Amino acid sequence: MDKARLDIENKLVPKGADVTRHLALPEQGQTPEWILAEMEKMDSEMTGSNSWKAGKLSGAVYHGGDDMERVIVAAYAKYCVSNPLHPDVFPAIRKMEAEIVAMTLKLFNNPDGAGTMTSGGTESIIMSVKTHRDWARAVKGITEPEIIIPSSGHAAFDKGAAYLKIKVHSIPVDPYTRKVDLKAVKRAINPNTIMLVGSTVNFPDGNQDDIEGLGKLAAKYKTGLHVDCCLGSFVVPYLEKAGLSEGANGKYKLYPFDFRVPGVTAISCDTHKYGFAPKGSSVIMYRDAELRRYQYYVNPDWSGKWLAVSTPVLVYPALGTKPGALIAGTWAAMQYMGSNGYLESCRSIVTCARTIADTIVASIPELYILGSPPASVVAFASKHPKVNVLEVGDKMSQRGWHLNALTGPPAVHIACTTDGVSSVQRLTVDRVDVFIADLKDSVQEAKVQPEGKGSMVALYGLGNSSAVGPAMVGQLASAFLDTLYKA
Ligand SMILES: Cc1ncc(COP(=O)(O)O)c(C=O)c1O
Repeated sequence: MDKARLDIENKLVPKGADVTRHLALPEQGQTPEWILAEMEKMDSEMTGSNSWKAGKLSGAVYHGGDDMERVIVAAYAKYCVSNPLHPDVFPAIRKMEAEIVAMTLKLFNNPDGAGTMTSGGTESIIMSVKTHRDWARAVKGITEPEIIIPSSGHAAFDKGAAYLKIKVHSIPVDPYTRKVDLKAVKRAINPNTIMLVGSTVNFPDGNQDDIEGLGKLAAKYKTGLHVDCCLGSFVVPYLEKAGLSEGANGKYKLYPFDFRVPGVTAISCDTHKYGFAPKGSSVIMYRDAELRRYQYYVNPDWSGKWLAVSTPVLVYPALGTKPGALIAGTWAAMQYMGSNGYLESCRSIVTCARTIADTIVASIPELYILGSPPASVVAFASKHPKVNVLEVGDKMSQRGWHLNALTGPPAVHIACTTDGVSSVQRLTVDRVDVFIADLKDSVQEAKVQPEGKGSMVALYGLGNSSAVGPAMVGQLASAFLDTLYKA
């Protein structure tokens, strides 16, 4: 534990006598030149916030184009001080937020539906959990709510359930298709069920649940159904148009997932992922405005003033006041990309992911792909007794890749990204050959020289390593969070 804790700290917190620490306010304010120079210095002290430009990463940065960045920064600068809590003072921001929601609803085939913007996928999901809880209490009289989540569903659902005191049923996915087991979902439904969950696509391995099957259950038992398109965001709605809703031999097939599927009551879509908007931006959509009402927090008794905001203060304390500049940045990104831009980026991202998956299948016999992922994420696991895939992940880290490790089964994933409009920075899309070459070398090295010391093996292997493994993972996670606040 101590070693792992120290490793985390050494990776994240700069050390040494020449590191300046700003632990108290400067007596006099600094100049803009000093501020920017100090940021440069901080970048160079560690690996630097420019290291992503090498493109060897999974997700995290969803576009890399300077042109795109200029558009977002200009929009941000124009509305830097705006505060949407005061729509009378900033009417343009209110209009942009409403239009972002409308454009996204249209993309998910529910132009008459309703939604709000949030600060990210996690908040969109927590809002949906809250909305369904309050709806079920008002309409069905449910006071001890329960939700049913695939084991591949994002942790934000568990987080929301923990915050809002809702019981969770975690349902296994089929080990081959990676889709949630519908029979087990059906068995878990009871009179307290407020909501089912399905992903298009899920975070761990990029596969899609059977949304139509879940929709039938939701309609039959009159529960909500949330489709998590946070990661699928602006890729999955374009797959059909791009002619990519099915690959060769029926692989990578995308099944219906949006509001056209009966029973779907809510969809989350992250504009700050494949929508290429600045970070801190997502949309939660509902089938209709009546359901959205249950998201609102209205407190007519508060002595300050009558406050009605679309998100409860409980979950996102800053809202009330929220960053209008992010709304402007999101609106600008969507206008700049347009449908054609998103179609193009969908094409290049998905082609990249499928090239990676197909090449692994064809030329790396030690590995297999989890499921048949229709969009941007590819996860690989080992089928060779001498190859620990987490060791492969560590060898990839040594080659400069920032990939994600998974458990259940142990696997490693990459979420491919590009901006689709720039010819300069194309992140994963331009590095497929390097990725494959590095992966082949890493697999061979892991087979003949396993070290068992890298952080993927140490951290992600831990959960299954012994009886105390899961508790240690919990302790390490807390240690990691503590480290984030070490100045
Ligand atoms: C499928 C899925 N849902 C939800 C989230 C949460 O999004 P955020 O990190 O923006 O809170 C993610 C993040 O990667 C995701 O992949």
